[in-house]
Amino acid sequence: MSAVTRTFLVTGASSGIGRAMAKKLLSMGFQVLGVSRDCSQFKHAHPNFSSFTLDLSALKQLPARAAELSKAYPQLDGVVFAAGAGQFGSLEEFSFAQIEQLMNLNFTGNALLTRALLPSLKRKQKADLIYVGSEAALKGSRKGTIYCASKFALRGFTQALREECAKSQVRVSLINPGMVKTPFFDQLSFEPGDDMTQYITAEDVADAMQYILSSNPNIVLDEINLSPLNKVIKFKTG
Ligand SMILES: NC(=O)c1ccc[n+]([C@@H]2O[C@H](COP(=O)([O-])OP(=O)(O)OC[C@H]3O[C@@H](n4cnc5c(N)ncnc54)[C@H](OP(=O)(O)O)[C@@H]3O)[C@@H](O)[C@H]2O)c1
Repeated sequence: MSAVTRTFLVTGASSGIGRAMAKKLLSMGFQVLGVSRDCSQFKHAHPNFSSFTLDLSALKQLPARAAELSKAYPQLDGVVFAAGAGQFGSLEEFSFAQIEQLMNLNFTGNALLTRALLPSLKRKQKADLIYVGSEAALKGSRKGTIYCASKFALRGFTQALREECAKSQVRVSLINPGMVKTPFFDQLSFEPGDDMTQYITAEDVADAMQYILSSNPNIVLDEINLSPLNKVIKFKTG
């Protein structure tokens, strides 16, 4: 087995895109610290994998938990932000609490975690911050007011952070996938079509991450957009 050279924190490593990214990082010989609200979901032991319980939408506790994490894992030199959720409907269907919750999870939690980890990442010889946005970060869509807003916010954040880090060794990248076949759609009234031309796999998104990480260290791939060949939304019945 090749020597471990880097250590990545992966939020949302228990499912879907984050899980595929964590697996990819392990296959690249890296150490992975998987973050989830419930670490019992990490069932398959891997010698280079450890886990940390963190609720990214619990903003009050987040700074202290992130400081704890930073202290316990000083070797961290990369963070992949893949935790998130989708909620869709007209604005008036959202309660005030639901709006706050979705913005906290998809945007503010990421900003706070970045804020907590950035000082130590800036002291590394190289570091990567990779965020999972969405095609919803590129264009507003019906029933997507809050989801789009959370992803637009994340995109603005990563663009500004890229500028802010432009005199350091910290690379900042955003990956914006279209519909990816994951448990993301379990609680939603729609999902991607069944044909393989109608969805991206979580592994495709992990490949985009690998491309970013394997690129010349002197360049930054600031944004990658990927979407299925055929864009089909399938509405669930019943
Ligand atoms: N699937 C798509 O079509 C698609 C397309 C574009 C962008 N995205 C984005 O990709 C990201 C991952 O989505 P996915 O498709 O992989 O969904 P998923 O399979 O449902 O995974 C979501 C992950 O986020 C974690 N998570 C949820 N709430 C959390 C919280 N409060 N604190 C910490 N972790 C939390 C979950 O872990 P726990 O439940 O264990 O906490 C889980 O690991 C999201 O940001 C989503 O917006 C998805």
